[in-house]
Amino acid sequence: MGFLRLRRMIEIAALDRPWMAPLLRARGTDSPAPSAEHWDTEYRRGTYDRLLRSDQRHHHRLLAALIAEARPGARLLEVGCGEGAFYETMRPFAPAHYLGIDISGEAIGRAETRFAEDIAAGTAHFRRADARAFATGDRFDAVLFPECIEYLGDIDEVVTHYAGLLNPGGVIGLTMWLNARPVRRWWRLKEILAVQDQAVVTAAWGGAWVVGVLAPRP
Ligand SMILES: C[S@@+](CC[C@H](N)C(=O)[O-])C[C@H]1O[C@@H](n2cnc3c(N)ncnc32)[C@H](O)[C@@H]1O
Repeated sequence: MGFLRLRRMIEIAALDRPWMAPLLRARGTDSPAPSAEHWDTEYRRGTYDRLLRSDQRHHHRLLAALIAEARPGARLLEVGCGEGAFYETMRPFAPAHYLGIDISGEAIGRAETRFAEDIAAGTAHFRRADARAFATGDRFDAVLFPECIEYLGDIDEVVTHYAGLLNPGGVIGLTMWLNARPVRRWWRLKEILAVQDQAVVTAAWGGAWVVGVLAPRP
């Protein structure tokens, strides 16, 4: 426990200090992005049921509040929406429009069942799509990646693509599990985007997430 606390302190301190890289050993290399079948199987197995638990969603609460404050009544795109755990938190802030996409048909089916009323009312939409090839003529005030950006491959390509879907003044919001590899992604994100807000949310059970709202540089 003492070691974990120390490691977490180093990870938090490192968010603004890339020179601390030698203290953060990221083992191995980035694994290939899992397939749609992988995600479907994991959802059916119940691996991600935990994402609906309250003590797993404090990072969602912070991101939703930051977005609602920065862009009230926004048009939102959530990438990797799963079965709608983040939407559940965002929904009371009444976004003008919400679209959630996910590569897993199983997760999208569950989201459609959970939020059938909002879909019928036209305020929420869920679509099965691979975020690495998602194209739309729509534009959004915020594109959100709660615990998803780490599965989408090259971070520069992801940011360039989704920044192109933003309305003027739009922002990118994300949460990432905090450990050595995401800290490196965070450094890169801060090079290519301007940080409007960053925070670390730590649950009492020890889990921690970095939460960020970033904007394309002018
Ligand atoms: C750890 S889960 C997070 C789910 C949800 N955002 C949350 O915070 O509860 C990662 C999600 O990303 C989705 N995902 C992974 N790769 C994807 C891709 N290429 N395109 C769209 N969604 C993807 C998975 O199906 C899964 O639902």
